[in-house]
Amino acid sequence: MKLPDYKEARKRTNSTVEKEIYELDSSISNIGAGKKYYIKTYGCQMNEHDTENIKAMLEQLGFAEVDDYINADLVLLNTCSIRENAHNKAFGMLGRLKHLKEEKRELIVGLCGCMAQEEKVVDEIMHKYKWVNFVFGTHNIHRLPYILNESFNSMKQEIEVYSKEGNIVEGMPVKRASKYKAYVNIMYGCDKFCTYCIVPYTRGKQRSREKDDIIEEVLKLKEEGYQEVTLLGQNVNAYGKDFSYNYNLENLLEDVSKTNIPRVRFMTSHPWDFTDGMIEVIKKYPNIMPAIHLPVQSGSSKILKLMGRKYTKEEYIELFDKLKTIPNVSISTDIIVGFPNESDEDFKETLDLVNYCKYDNAFTFIFSPRVGTPAAKLEDKITLEEKEQRLYLLNETVNKYFLENNKKLVGQKVKVLTEGTSEKEGMLFGYTETNKLINFVGTDDLIGKIIDIEVTDAKTWSLDGKVC
Ligand code: 5AD
Ligand code: SF4
Repeated sequence: MKLPDYKEARKRTNSTVEKEIYELDSSISNIGAGKKYYIKTYGCQMNEHDTENIKAMLEQLGFAEVDDYINADLVLLNTCSIRENAHNKAFGMLGRLKHLKEEKRELIVGLCGCMAQEEKVVDEIMHKYKWVNFVFGTHNIHRLPYILNESFNSMKQEIEVYSKEGNIVEGMPVKRASKYKAYVNIMYGCDKFCTYCIVPYTRGKQRSREKDDIIEEVLKLKEEGYQEVTLLGQNVNAYGKDFSYNYNLENLLEDVSKTNIPRVRFMTSHPWDFTDGMIEVIKKYPNIMPAIHLPVQSGSSKILKLMGRKYTKEEYIELFDKLKTIPNVSISTDIIVGFPNESDEDFKETLDLVNYCKYDNAFTFIFSPRVGTPAAKLEDKITLEEKEQRLYLLNETVNKYFLENNKKLVGQKVKVLTEGTSEKEGMLFGYTETNKLINFVGTDDLIGKIIDIEVTDAKTWSLDGKVC
């Protein structure tokens, strides 16, 4: 049994990160034969991509996927810790699984992802959820076949969570959710330690993947017919800072662009590490999409300081203005309201900033204290009602600009990667270069292709169009 330890998770050392190649021991390669699995994923793209690896590993073991947990022999929850509600959702699901397990004793239940890295969660699983069969963390996903095998053999609760990040594991199998666009991890972990954020504890020290491994993956995807890659990391702009040689996101974007994969995206950016060189590369290569996710978190320099974001409102605006020189760029953001001691004046500064930036998209949240982070220890005098009121006002403001920006596109021709049939009956859907959802009428042979669409109508969260 290996349990999470926050003290260990907080440590950052200069120890070199080794590369390890995933291998499956043939003696266990059949343990899932005839069995069905269901996996529920919470949280960010990183988790979604981990799930793609987990699914492929399970299928190598003989398991087959089902889309309803009621029919599964193995249910796995890939969890998220970022805010309390993600946490509550996972525990709610565990409640439903408990009932199912009472009827179906042979059901195997596992929990992985960021919540597995939390001391408090694992303690609760060990004491109040003894029926959960196994838990593993974000640093040892590649160990799943062995943990599962152990769990089948011992029938005891297996807990294997490493608090210190391990090697970078290459060669993991992957079952991708899409045939046209793919996530490619370029780095793991985060060293920024924003004071509200649990990620540096749950995902460990920043570790960049080697350029050659990334390029090889992109080239393979291109060969398989993929049209788009999203380079993933918690803070991609810091890519390469942990290398002993000089190679950074500017260089990587250029090299990935030169593979000639039709579309390259990257996320998430931290304003602190965004260089002029990166902006020039984005401008230079037409297959690097002009869509930038640039979380601001707050428009008040006082709150930004308390958040440990390392930039002021003015510095953010300076960067924002530079990014706006990229032709047709769309900029999205993340904003937290109700950070401890955020005054009405601070909140007003956030609204002012939104009125200046007029974002194309924004993800807005109420501050959620995460145990173990410095911000969770701050005294908080703001009532939940006040926070909800701020969120409401903020959403009203950001939504206004989504619609305003979308309306500007009506009558224009945009390039769209068609992804499939839309939720809107009889229509297809896809995303523009600027990452806007667009619905249009078209034949199925357009799916997987990048085509020209004329925008005919604009809504707050989507566009309508017609094939040109
Ligand atoms: N409370 C609320 N929102 C948070 N985020 C991260 N941690 C917290 C928290 N404790 C938000 C940030 C980040 C996004 C992924 O989630 O806005 O950019
Ligand atoms: Fe969290 Fe800040 Fe790292 Fe983003 S940059 S993952 S908000 S600590």
